[in-house]
Amino acid sequence: MKFDYYELLDVASQILIACGEEKTNAYVAAKSMVKADARGITTHGTYLLTPIYKRIQVNQLSLPTKATVVKDSGATAIVDGGDGLGAIAGQLALEIATEKAKTYGLSSVLIRNTNNVGSLAFYTEQAAKEGLIAIMSCNAAPAIAPWGGAEAFMGTNPVAISFYTGKELIFTLDMASSVVARGKIRKAERNREPIPDNWALDENGNPTTDPAAALKGTLLPIGGPKGSALALAVDILSGILPGGSHAPNLKSFHSPEGSTGVGASLILLSIERFLNIGEYVNTMEDYIASIKKVKKAKGFEEILIPGELEYRRELDSMKYGIELDNDAIDAINNLLKKTGSGIRLGE
Ligand SMILES: NC(=O)c1ccc[n+]([C@@H]2O[C@H](COP(=O)([O-])OP(=O)(O)OC[C@H]3O[C@@H](n4cnc5c(N)ncnc54)[C@H](O)[C@@H]3O)[C@@H](O)[C@H]2O)c1
Repeated sequence: MKFDYYELLDVASQILIACGEEKTNAYVAAKSMVKADARGITTHGTYLLTPIYKRIQVNQLSLPTKATVVKDSGATAIVDGGDGLGAIAGQLALEIATEKAKTYGLSSVLIRNTNNVGSLAFYTEQAAKEGLIAIMSCNAAPAIAPWGGAEAFMGTNPVAISFYTGKELIFTLDMASSVVARGKIRKAERNREPIPDNWALDENGNPTTDPAAALKGTLLPIGGPKGSALALAVDILSGILPGGSHAPNLKSFHSPEGSTGVGASLILLSIERFLNIGEYVNTMEDYIASIKKVKKAKGFEEILIPGELEYRRELDSMKYGIELDNDAIDAINNLLKKTGSGIRLGE
């Protein structure tokens, strides 16, 4: 079933407010989730409202979010997320980093002590719209074994890089360092569907198509040892450097076993400090046009730039509504009921 972007935004905001979040922050966090749903990233969409609610019930997420700047010097800063909503710490870091990048040409703002920051493109694309290049990463609970290991150590630690293109469509690489985000395996488990055998290993280190066995085992990194190295590098940048938690001490957002300890890093570059903005935009336009003209491989009709698939999905969602499956609708309606709201989606 499809839902209007603003209807979903309102419902998600209301749930967060009922959970104890302050109105403006609830709107920002809801926006990060609804945008993810609109882009087809349902693993980091309104689905996250349920683990947020469950954590609040056991006092393992602190609302209203009190994200604060704990260190600030020139082009750099550290934000402490106060164990609140990840989107609030992420948005605060983004706003500080944007101002600093415009002043200094580049900036780096790190985050410690927060929770799941969601889909990184939410932040990097906002910076790109300001004419900046944004590089962001975050760490997460142990899910991947370091290459050669057989137990989960580092998270699916994603990296996103967004480039301003002078157009609505932003070049956005946004990917987990595992073959797939852990949420996709959780979704397959919920839908009782098998997973491809190159996504994960079971607890004995064997490839598996069973999502439940995969969740007990380890996720495979992208590109073997290269993805393993990337996940570790992200952990150093997002966990060790801000003075926060790092592998293997982070806790899963989805089971309330204590503070998750998520950290993140955001690096912004001002294009105009390197290249005249007009020259940059013209070159990017030619560059993207040349990518699209490359001879197509068998079975491909066109070549997409990173982020284009999600961008097209978002345009479609804004026009025709955001697609939610029955489980997602039930989960939201369940939260509306539990938080005392009379509203129900799809009724
Ligand atoms: N907060 C967290 O702890 C956490 C952890 C893991 C992932 N995530 C988020 O999950 C989301 C999904 O990650 P993922 O690794 O599953 O992404 P994905 O595999 O769906 O896509 C990865 C990248 O490949 C590009 N891409 C995909 N298909 C393409 C095609 N046909 N042509 C050209 N480019 C294409 C996408 O635009 C994207 O930039 C991201 O937003 C990420 O930030 C968050």
